[in-house]
Amino acid sequence: MNFKEEQVKRVEIIEKILKKYLPAKEGHQKVIMEAMEYSVMAGGKRLRPMLMQETYKLFGGEGELVEPFMAAMEMIHTYSLVHDDLPAMDDDDYRRGRKTTHVVYGEAMGILAGDALLNFAFETATKAFAMFPEKTLEIGKALQVLAGKAGIYGMIGGQVVDVESAGNSISKEVLDFIYELKTSALIESSMMIGAILAGADETSVKTIEKIAKNIGIAFQIQDDILDVTSTVEELGKPIHSDEKNEKTTYVTLVGLEKAKEYVENISMEAIQLLETFETRDAFLKELLKALIHRKK
Ligand code: IPE
Ligand code: IPE
Ligand code: MG
Ligand code: MG
Ligand code: MG
Repeated sequence: MNFKEEQVKRVEIIEKILKKYLPAKEGHQKVIMEAMEYSVMAGGKRLRPMLMQETYKLFGGEGELVEPFMAAMEMIHTYSLVHDDLPAMDDDDYRRGRKTTHVVYGEAMGILAGDALLNFAFETATKAFAMFPEKTLEIGKALQVLAGKAGIYGMIGGQVVDVESAGNSISKEVLDFIYELKTSALIESSMMIGAILAGADETSVKTIEKIAKNIGIAFQIQDDILDVTSTVEELGKPIHSDEKNEKTTYVTLVGLEKAKEYVENISMEAIQLLETFETRDAFLKELLKALIHRKK
């Protein structure tokens, strides 16, 4: 398998799905649809919908059922970035290689574009009911995960403690809590929804949640590493954002070398757990390996 080629193919498929589900730019409120498209179609790795689709396939899922959820997931993730960059939060001016949404459209539209993406994500995911009336149970379960993992016990909860802790030194325990919620939650959601929609049993979904938790923590540690080792050009977002905001990160807590070791170890744990399933997805395994040394 040529991993890079396969990855590019998947990104193309995902972007087609995103375009299909984004709202038409019309009406007096047209500016909000433009801002939604600006942030969603700016690029980005599309990791969450990719993980969702691959997990769906791992459990034998076929066809379009997963597609509205893939689009919804990327909308929720993008909203989290649009709000994360706001002046009241991390106050960053670049994202996905472009000026951030609030810089281009103004702060009020930045806030509203985030709100709009979050709401439209649910408008999008619920389209699955009409498309697949025989899958009501699976769709209902998937929606519950989508809602829960984005909320106060998930991503928002993590962002709350992240913002509240800025400027203070925090323990590894609190830092792990932040990472598990702000970053792992949406990755857990992505993979769990893939499994649920494919009809995986509860035990398998629980195992998938554990795998995704580790992938998320490793992903956030690598994000912290890149914040100090990369360049704006490569990342498409500012570097030294964490230092600017006086954030405690794995890099400030244990140092660069140890942080790199953690990324490797936690990722290998996830890969080993993935191998306990009877079915295999070669691309998924390669993707998890590639994330360990990702440069953006
Ligand atoms: C950025 O996520 C926010 C974190 C959780 C670190 P990504 O690194 O997946 O951002 P995009 O989607 O590729 O822009
Ligand atoms: C953000 O973490 C995680 C989100 C839920 C958006 P960061 O603040 O480190 O993400 P970046 O570095 O801005 O992408
Ligand atoms: Mg942040
Ligand atoms: Mg940030
Ligand atoms: Mg970061």
